[in-house]
Amino acid sequence: MSFISIIKGKILSIVTSVSLMLKAFKKIYRHGGYTIVNISSIQYGQVLKGRKIVVTGGGAGIGFNIAKRCLEEGASVVITGRSENKLREACKQLNSGLLQPLVWDISEVSEIHKGLEKATFLLGGDIDILINNAGVLDTTPFPYITEQIWDKIYATNSKGLFFLTQTLCEKWMICRNNSLKKIINISSQGGFVGATYPYRMTKWDVAGLTQGLGIKLAQHGIIVNGIAPGIIATDMQPGFLHQKENVFITENPLQRIGLPEEIAELAIFLMSDSANFIVGQTIVCDGGYSIK
Ligand SMILES: NC(=O)c1ccc[n+]([C@@H]2O[C@H](COP(=O)([O-])OP(=O)(O)OC[C@H]3O[C@@H](n4cnc5c(N)ncnc54)[C@H](OP(=O)(O)O)[C@@H]3O)[C@@H](O)[C@H]2O)c1
Repeated sequence: MSFISIIKGKILSIVTSVSLMLKAFKKIYRHGGYTIVNISSIQYGQVLKGRKIVVTGGGAGIGFNIAKRCLEEGASVVITGRSENKLREACKQLNSGLLQPLVWDISEVSEIHKGLEKATFLLGGDIDILINNAGVLDTTPFPYITEQIWDKIYATNSKGLFFLTQTLCEKWMICRNNSLKKIINISSQGGFVGATYPYRMTKWDVAGLTQGLGIKLAQHGIIVNGIAPGIIATDMQPGFLHQKENVFITENPLQRIGLPEEIAELAIFLMSDSANFIVGQTIVCDGGYSIK
């Protein structure tokens, strides 16, 4: 290579570096923005170390399994529900010093402030993650829905979830610190197919709210995502099943019922720092039901 072409190469690389530097300065000068990213790989066993988490409806089913995995990943957890017995039984089963029960009906909007204060006290500090999991089901078909059924389902699945989320986010936005906050909303496969009864309609609400708040709150350091489970073996579904039992069903392409443990694994991933670039998404986990 000639001396001239070496000099040309050097000049080109200096010009490229200077232009990249100018572009970077322009970004900061014009938009005030400076962002760096650290890639986080999942290290199971300490994914949620030190995090303070509230799981609504954590006394049974999907919520119970999410709480269990949160504890295994090092978090402090408050599980809520209306039945004291259910919560007591869950705490006995999980047997962890990092777990606290809180009797709290989230459909009572006037109790939300008090509920959040109690949860914060039990956790010994600010909540980092909210799992909006509590839900009730009624499958009375159209055209037999009564106003009472509508109100009962909406009170927990939509109204309660909304006001709890709004109250907590207001607190987070006022007292912003450096830690990233997260919300995981539990929707349903029913939120991704046509809806003719209130349960499914509330699950559309939840997926829509997840998308809307995902956009609105990202700039405040709050990441909102959701999970839409398919038919999962919990008390909500007839025929409670466990791992290694016959889980065959014909409703989805995978031809099997899902297990609450599978939803819990997805929840842990979404709560982890490895999912920090996912915003406003509801991840459908339904054996293919909603796309069949
Ligand atoms: N299982 C499925 O096939 C399936 C499918 C799609 C979506 N999901 C959704 O997944 C979530 C969990 O359901 P799951 O299957 O685990 O049902 P689950 O076993 O019946 O558990 C629901 C939990 O929510 C609590 N809860 C209900 N109303 C509440 C309220 N007003 N305030 C506080 N807690 C309340 C219940 O406790 P208390 O009775 O003590 O209040 C219970 O612990 C729900 O949002 C459900 O819609 C479930």
